[in-house]
Amino acid sequence: MLNFELYNPTRIIFGKDRLESIDKYVPAGAHVLITYGGGSALKSGLIARIRKVLGNRKVDEFGGIEPNPRYVTLMKAAAVVRKEKVDFILAVGGGSVIDGTKFICLASYFKGDALEILKAGFRQITPAEVEKNVPFAAVLTLPATGSEMNSGGVISYAHGKFPFKSDMTFPVFSILDPSLSFTLPQVQLANGVVDAFVHTTEQYLTYPVDARLQDRMAEGILQTLVEIGATNIAEPENYDARANLYWSATMALNGFIGAGVPQDWATHMIGHEITHLFGIDHAQTLAIILPALLEVRRKKKHAKLLQYAERVWNITEGSEDEKITLAIKKTRDFFESLGLKTRLSERGIKPEQVDILVEHLRAHGFTALGEAGDHDLETSREILTKAL
Ligand code: NZQ
Ligand code: ZN
Repeated sequence: MLNFELYNPTRIIFGKDRLESIDKYVPAGAHVLITYGGGSALKSGLIARIRKVLGNRKVDEFGGIEPNPRYVTLMKAAAVVRKEKVDFILAVGGGSVIDGTKFICLASYFKGDALEILKAGFRQITPAEVEKNVPFAAVLTLPATGSEMNSGGVISYAHGKFPFKSDMTFPVFSILDPSLSFTLPQVQLANGVVDAFVHTTEQYLTYPVDARLQDRMAEGILQTLVEIGATNIAEPENYDARANLYWSATMALNGFIGAGVPQDWATHMIGHEITHLFGIDHAQTLAIILPALLEVRRKKKHAKLLQYAERVWNITEGSEDEKITLAIKKTRDFFESLGLKTRLSERGIKPEQVDILVEHLRAHGFTALGEAGDHDLETSREILTKAL
């Protein structure tokens, strides 16, 4: 097992009818800003219910945080935080609203140009870089990203999507009431299952380091997602299926399965370029890239792919290579069974556009991806070509 340091201070409040906890954990007398997206939380009446729980606290709202949240939108919210002297933010929505709120928390009192946050990439933003940090909490309405229990975010700016992270941007608490997601369209549920699945494979399908518990936790999440994926889509108000999706998605990216193991975020980095250039939903880019990446990288990932085939898909027959081939096929079939496409061509992307994607990866410095840093631009080109 590799050395690791694990820090996660987020309180999880899970289950039905948990909104009352907001009153318990948001400081009395706080001036609260509720952030939300394009209006689903307004329409469902959730914002009104939250306002009621907040009681006499002073409350402002900032709506309109778009999917793949944009820097310009979030800077407007940061201006509101400063002008109104907001001291607590409540993010109500999916990964985009929560990520966007993390950025607002840092940008509101950032000492330099807030664009530096996006240039930091995987480097932590430290307390020394902000005059003060604005704390926030989340009410999750879409199980997918894990943003409700991690400290990272991804923000769209000009020519790309940029990740950032900071110990200051863990939610103080997150309310995970699966029934708040009953209004989700089917496609967002499929997206959620696939995003959580690929978060898990990015931390699992690398090379063995004898991290038995992390491996078994990852396998447990993958198997759970396979078990409950279809039910979540077919039965939009099945509470138990949704509860299992919520907790799987949270556990897939809260630091636990990634502790002490190598990680490979290449599927995500390539996927971000596709989202930015072609406007395809985050998880749908992952459904396209992961099967192709596993094919191209199957020699490097051989041992873990074999373990994946045997333990996640219960494949017992055939040679090692046959088992791996079948496991990759089952992965693709699973994504397709949820209604997602797994080919670039099915989304209208042409062979000549592979070059543009590779150029964007180059421009953003993603030239040495993978668990060993040996996934170069030619590897990405091969994956994108295979994904056509
Ligand atoms: O904006 P509203 O009106 O709320 O509608 C949203 C949005 O259109 C809708 N929605 C959310 N909850 C709903 C609902 N509609 C009906 N009923 C509800 N209960 O769903 C749409 C998509 O929302 P979004 O937040 O964009 O989806 P998701 O949660 O998949 O987040 C995707 C974003 O997260 C980033 C992605 O890059 C992308 O920007 N990621 C963040 C990560 C992290 N912080 O750790 C990791 C992930 O890999 C991911 O990269
Ligand atoms: Zn993701």
